[in-house]
Amino acid sequence: MTGLTVDRPAGTAEDWTIPQDWDSYSPQDHAVWDALFARQAALLPGRAVKEFIDGLDILRIAKPGIPNLEDLSERLMKRTGWQVVAVPGLVPDDVFFEHLANRRFVAGRFIRRPDQLDYLQEPDVFHDVFGHVPLLAHPVFADYMQAYGEGGLRADGLGAIEKLARLYWYTVEFGLIRQDAELKIYGAGIVSSYGESLFALDDPSPNRIGFGLKRLMRTKYRIDDYQQSYFVIDSFDDLLRQTVEMDFAPLYEELKQESTIEADEIIDEDRVFNRGTQDYARSEA
Ligand code: PHE
Ligand code: FE
Repeated sequence: MTGLTVDRPAGTAEDWTIPQDWDSYSPQDHAVWDALFARQAALLPGRAVKEFIDGLDILRIAKPGIPNLEDLSERLMKRTGWQVVAVPGLVPDDVFFEHLANRRFVAGRFIRRPDQLDYLQEPDVFHDVFGHVPLLAHPVFADYMQAYGEGGLRADGLGAIEKLARLYWYTVEFGLIRQDAELKIYGAGIVSSYGESLFALDDPSPNRIGFGLKRLMRTKYRIDDYQQSYFVIDSFDDLLRQTVEMDFAPLYEELKQESTIEADEIIDEDRVFNRGTQDYARSEA
């Protein structure tokens, strides 16, 4: 989801994967993982959707430290048929979609430095594995991710990658869900960030708006800071129904006539849970 058109780095396989080379992580690398894991594992119960908390089990492998992706894949495979494979960094869209369509999640192998615990713009192994893998253990979400990959391959041919990327951003990365009459986090970009796990639920600054497929495909997003709007789904089943069972081709056509919506904007049709003050965004501008 990157629009990336660079050559495949030397040493990567044709599908851009690399060996994780788990033995080459340093004690400091593992310590960074452990610190991040401990902090999020303490923060998220009651904040993250229960399917995410359940899925964390799968990351609790025998030894602490960065998970060995082969062990992890073995566990995940038994539950939902997914695997996790290592890549050097961001990969081109078609490569990414192809992996998802085949139930392989690509994870960066590097981990952030100890001075980067709080925010990192590019995805590292903590974001990719802690953030994304727990929900891949949930059958409905696992199917959504595969369908998304298939939809990506299709969107590529329809010139609609940007629209589809917005769906990924506002669901898989930064989605909120209503569960037991409360808002909860499920997006990987939120659950893997200490600051945003608090901000996304508690701060008066961002908008929190009911999910609308077409609305969200029109909405810009920011990649450099906390989101200005979050979209709330009713359930994973509902998300799956509204996406998998829907032919996006006519939707992409209709969207050509529609204007783009700014990241902080609220429109008439929105089901608003919280009209954000945008104070945070303004203070950072
Ligand atoms: N149904 C979508 C299409 O017709 C594919 C898709 C499924 C996209 C699930 C995203 C998520 O292209
Ligand atoms: Fe991610």
